[in-house]
Amino acid sequence: MTTVVGAGLDRSRMLDWYRRNRARSARLFELVAPEAFDCRPIPLRHPFIFYEGHLPAFSYLTLNERALGEPPLDARLERLFERGIDPASPAAAAEHTRNDWPTRSAVRAFADACDVRVLDALAHAPLRDDAQPRMWHAQSAWTILEHEPMHHETLTYIIHQLEPAQKRRVEQDHRDAAIAPSAPIAIPAGVATLGADDDAPFGWDNEFERHEVAVPAFAIERYPVTNADWQRFVAAGGPPPPFWIERDGAWRLRGAFEELPLPGSWPVYVSHQQATAYARWAGRRLPSESEYHRAAFGSPANLERPFPWGDRPPGPEHGNFDFQRFDPEPVDAHPAGQSAWGVADLIGNGWEWTATPFAPFPGFTPMASYPQYSADFFDGRHYVMKGASPVTAVELIRRSFRNWFYDDYPFMYAKFRLVSS
Ligand code: AVJ
Ligand code: FE
Repeated sequence: MTTVVGAGLDRSRMLDWYRRNRARSARLFELVAPEAFDCRPIPLRHPFIFYEGHLPAFSYLTLNERALGEPPLDARLERLFERGIDPASPAAAAEHTRNDWPTRSAVRAFADACDVRVLDALAHAPLRDDAQPRMWHAQSAWTILEHEPMHHETLTYIIHQLEPAQKRRVEQDHRDAAIAPSAPIAIPAGVATLGADDDAPFGWDNEFERHEVAVPAFAIERYPVTNADWQRFVAAGGPPPPFWIERDGAWRLRGAFEELPLPGSWPVYVSHQQATAYARWAGRRLPSESEYHRAAFGSPANLERPFPWGDRPPGPEHGNFDFQRFDPEPVDAHPAGQSAWGVADLIGNGWEWTATPFAPFPGFTPMASYPQYSADFFDGRHYVMKGASPVTAVELIRRSFRNWFYDDYPFMYAKFRLVSS
């Protein structure tokens, strides 16, 4: 039996990461006015109080209880906070409404108790035992460490929907400057490798098995569709995007913390359905997941690279991600992040919708540490998103990472770009 922690992840790094996750969660909860804690600004999601309990409950359940066999700390709260919801409609969401959430101080006491036990496990417990599925390659530890930052994004886009009086405002500078027009870039036929290698330090179940896809030649726009582009669609009768608001005959953007004159050079955030409608109007289409991979990670030399810019770990020069800011930037802000073909803004500044329904790769097996993580969403109604948003943690930026949402979900920081065959 092996009880060492997997290569590339030692206990001190795990402890540090867990603490950083908890600190970022605390900072995000501090943005919410205390009176708003029971609010549900997105009726398809639980109120904030759920998330304050969910994060530590999920970590304790997944690592301490299920992987390490520790007894429940509070079985009732663990059940209450075990999983979030993803109803298909506000009507279906209504069934999840409850008015008996515990008090905030009770939730915080529970969270503190979970944190003590999780930190103790990360410091001292055997985390890797390849003979036990939940501890294969330290899977449960990785699962809790990547789960929390995904919720940082969820929390941020829910906070976005609060009224100004219900949240504390983060001061940010905004830049909007004229950009060179986009242009199609030809990508020759080639191979895209999707998914993660079995000996990757960690991947979610939907990232396996790694496999190659032959991608026919296509052309993809250098830049994602911007607010300025979408204004032409609105002028032609298209729908206004969810983050736009009209005041005195002019469109403004509802930023994370303030309203702004519409920044024409920023990517437009829209639902998958709206992106698809725009592409049809423009006589184009959305890229498939494999086409995104070709454009982002392929190269004229037929080498596939880990990141659009090559091998270097993601840094602030490469794109707008990892909470450098909450809102977008001009789509041309990061020339250092462009792909080998010169396609810009592929990672950061908003996830990119693909035309690919979220489905298992060949050889998919639900992961032992969280078997419902992906399997519950293979329903043909969720679509794959790639890349990252301004509030995607850098730890989640890797070629094989896949995100997904319903095609009519309007709250995501998700952009898109046009391709043609
Ligand atoms: C992968 C972002 C679609 O938020 O629904 C968090 C991540 N799953 N807790 C979601 C997730 C369970 C998931 N996404
Ligand atoms: Fe969760």
